[in-house]
Amino acid sequence: MLATARSEVDRVLGDEAPRFEHLSGLGYLDQVLKESLRLWPTAPAFGVSPRADGTVLGGRYEVNRDDELLVVVPGLHRDPAVWGADAETFDPDRFTFERAEALPPNAWKPFGNGQRSCIGRGFALQEATLFLAMLLQRFDITAADPTTSSRSSRR
Ligand code: HEM
Repeated sequence: MLATARSEVDRVLGDEAPRFEHLSGLGYLDQVLKESLRLWPTAPAFGVSPRADGTVLGGRYEVNRDDELLVVVPGLHRDPAVWGADAETFDPDRFTFERAEALPPNAWKPFGNGQRSCIGRGFALQEATLFLAMLLQRFDITAADPTTSSRSSRR
């Protein structure tokens, strides 16, 4: 995974500073970010309320307009019915174009829900992709012991 991300950066950026035009070539980095937001969504919950009194959820739970239900996003993002038995595994290939298209509409919600959802979503992903590209271009990243700190430069 790291090797794939790094070779994408080397191919698309080389030694250049990242620019908007590079984004379309950094599809694997986009997948890495989406998979990161699946397993560890920054905003871990959002609330919803039913439009009508007496709404029954899943054939079991009757809820009313003044009930607020909390959707816990890390739980939603690990639903084995959508993500499979290996839902806990970090796998950016879950977000290839074809597989992302096939996901149910509400399976991935790191940017919130409905009219209060994130207005900066597009910008956030662009910015993060360019940042990650620059990070991989300039540093060797390893799964280090979190109790120690070490850095090394690639170039
Ligand atoms: C990875 C980065 C980001 C994540 C995961 C994220 C996530 C979210 C979430 C979950 C909400 C909904 C909060 C709620 O339910 O009340 C939200 C709202 C919002 N976000 Fe983001 N956000 C990100 C980056 C950004 C950026 C870069 C901007 C601005 C440039 C931005 C602007 C906003 C605004 C203005 C709202 C409020 C929208 C509204 O209530 O009408 N976000 N974001």
